[in-house]
Amino acid sequence: MRFLTKKTKEFTADTVICFVWEDYKTDTELLKYLNSLSNGELMNQIETYKIFNGEFMQTFKLAINEDTKVLLAGLGKKDKLTRQKFSQIVANAARTAKTMTKNNSIAVELIENTNECSNITNNFNKEDSAKITLCSLRIGLYEFDKYVSEKKPKIETIELLNDDYTKELERAAEIGAYTSFAMKFTKDLVNEQAQIATPQYIANIAAQIAKEHKIEAKIYDKNQIKELNMNAFLAVGQGSVHEPKFVHLTYKPKCTPRKKVALVGKGITFDAGGMNIKPATSMLTMKDDMTGAASVLGIIQAMAKLESDIELHAICALCENMTSGSAYKQGDILTAMNGKTIEVDNTDAEGRITLADALCYCDKLNVDEVIDIATLTGAVIVSLGNNITGVMGNNQKQIDKFIETSKKSAENTWQMPILDELKDNLKSNIADMKNTGGRQAGTSTAAWFLSNFTKSKAWMHLDIAGTAYLDKSNKETLQGPTGVMIRTLINYLLS
Ligand code: BES
Ligand code: MN
Ligand code: ZN
Repeated sequence: MRFLTKKTKEFTADTVICFVWEDYKTDTELLKYLNSLSNGELMNQIETYKIFNGEFMQTFKLAINEDTKVLLAGLGKKDKLTRQKFSQIVANAARTAKTMTKNNSIAVELIENTNECSNITNNFNKEDSAKITLCSLRIGLYEFDKYVSEKKPKIETIELLNDDYTKELERAAEIGAYTSFAMKFTKDLVNEQAQIATPQYIANIAAQIAKEHKIEAKIYDKNQIKELNMNAFLAVGQGSVHEPKFVHLTYKPKCTPRKKVALVGKGITFDAGGMNIKPATSMLTMKDDMTGAASVLGIIQAMAKLESDIELHAICALCENMTSGSAYKQGDILTAMNGKTIEVDNTDAEGRITLADALCYCDKLNVDEVIDIATLTGAVIVSLGNNITGVMGNNQKQIDKFIETSKKSAENTWQMPILDELKDNLKSNIADMKNTGGRQAGTSTAAWFLSNFTKSKAWMHLDIAGTAYLDKSNKETLQGPTGVMIRTLINYLLS
C-alpha cells in the first residue's frame, strides 16, 4: 500500500471519503468541490431525502459521475469530536470505501478540529490529524487473509488530500504511514498460528529486519541463554519442543543519540499455562501472548525508517509455555540473571518470569529508559476492560508523559499503583519471592514482581492483556489483534 499527499482537486482515486460536520454542511473545500463535480446533485440528494446530516458515524454513498464515488462520513458536533471518535469514523469509513472502489484507490481529506475546548483529546491540528487519519485508515482496511482461499483485492493507494503541505505536515504524514506499517506488521505476526510463529520463526524475522534496516542483531540460542544465566526464562520454555530464543536488536542513529531506550516485549509464542494448564476457553487466543514481542519488532522498524535520533533496543525473550514431561513445575525454585530466586507458585504466571531475565539483561545496556509491553495479567481485563491499557512504573515523570502521549495518539491508558505493601502477596519462606499470590490486585502485584529485576530509574510497564486482542469488534478495530500502544510508543519515542 502506498500513501500519497495531494492537493484537494488532484485525486485520481475513484472513491473519495469526505468528512461532514453536523450542521456545517458545506464546511469543507472538498465537499464544495465534490458538489460542483456533481452539478449540485450531492447537496440536492442530502437536502431532499434528509437521510444524512453529518451525525457521528453516519455515512452516505453517492456516485457523482462515472469516475467518482463519494462516501460522506459524519463527524458529529465540533466540541464532541475527540481524537478517538475521529479514529473510529476513519476506520469505519475505510471499511465501507473498500467495498466501493474499483481501482483499489481511496482518497481522504485531511481535516482538523480546533475549538474553544481546551482538552487535548478534543482539539487536533493537521499534523495530529494526518497521523490519526493514516493509521486509522489502515486499521479499517486491515485483513489477515493468508489462509483464506478466496482473497479480495487489496487497496493499493491512499491519497491524503490537503491544499498546502508544510514540512511539518509531510513529516507527520510520514510518521503516520510508518506507524500504520508497524501496526500491520505486528497484527500479521500475532495472527500467525503458533505452530508456525515459534521462537525460531520470530527470531528469523528479527534477523531479517536487522539486515534490511542496518540494525545490529544479537540472537541467543538455548546454550547462550544459559551462559547469560537466564535460568528463570529458560525454565518457562523447557516443556516445549520449540527451543527458546533471546532477541536483541539495536538501532543506532547516525548522530549522537538524543536518548537511549530499551523496549522489552513479552514473547510467549503460545501460553497453554504449563502444568497449571488453562481451561480451553482461556487458551483459545493464547497465540497472542507474543504481542509485546511483535510490537517491539514493529516499532524498531518504524523508528529506523523514520531515521529517529534515539538509540533503540528491541528485546524479546521468546519461548512457549507448555505442559509436558519436561515442563517446569509448581515448587521449582528458579534463579534469575541478577541472582534473585523465584518459587514457582503457578506456572501460568510465566510472562513475569521471562520478563525478569529480559529486564536484568537491560541493566547492562546503559540506557536512559526501559519500557516493557506485555499481555501479562487477566486481572487487568477485570480492572480496565478491553480498551484501556494499564501503565505502571517507577518514574512518575515518564508515566505522565506517556499517558499524555496516549491521549494525543487516540489511545487509552490508566495508571495503576506499585506499592511496597504488595510484596506481602508474593512472600515465600524458601526463596526471595513467589511468582504469584492471591487473587487480589493481580496487575499491580505482577508489576511489583517485575520491579525487582530492573535497576533502571525510569522503568515503565504496559499491561496489554486486555487491549492486545479483541474477542469482539469495537467501533475502530475488528475482532483480532489491535496493535495497541504502537501509535503511542512511536509518538512517545519521537517526542
Ligand atoms: N498470558 C496470560 C495473561 C492473559 C490473560 C493475556 C488473558 C490475555 C488474556 C498470563 O500469562 C497469565 O496466564 N496470567 C495469569 C496469572 C495468574 C496465574 C496469577 C492470569 O492472569 O490468569
Ligand atoms: Mn500464563
Ligand atoms: Zn502468558
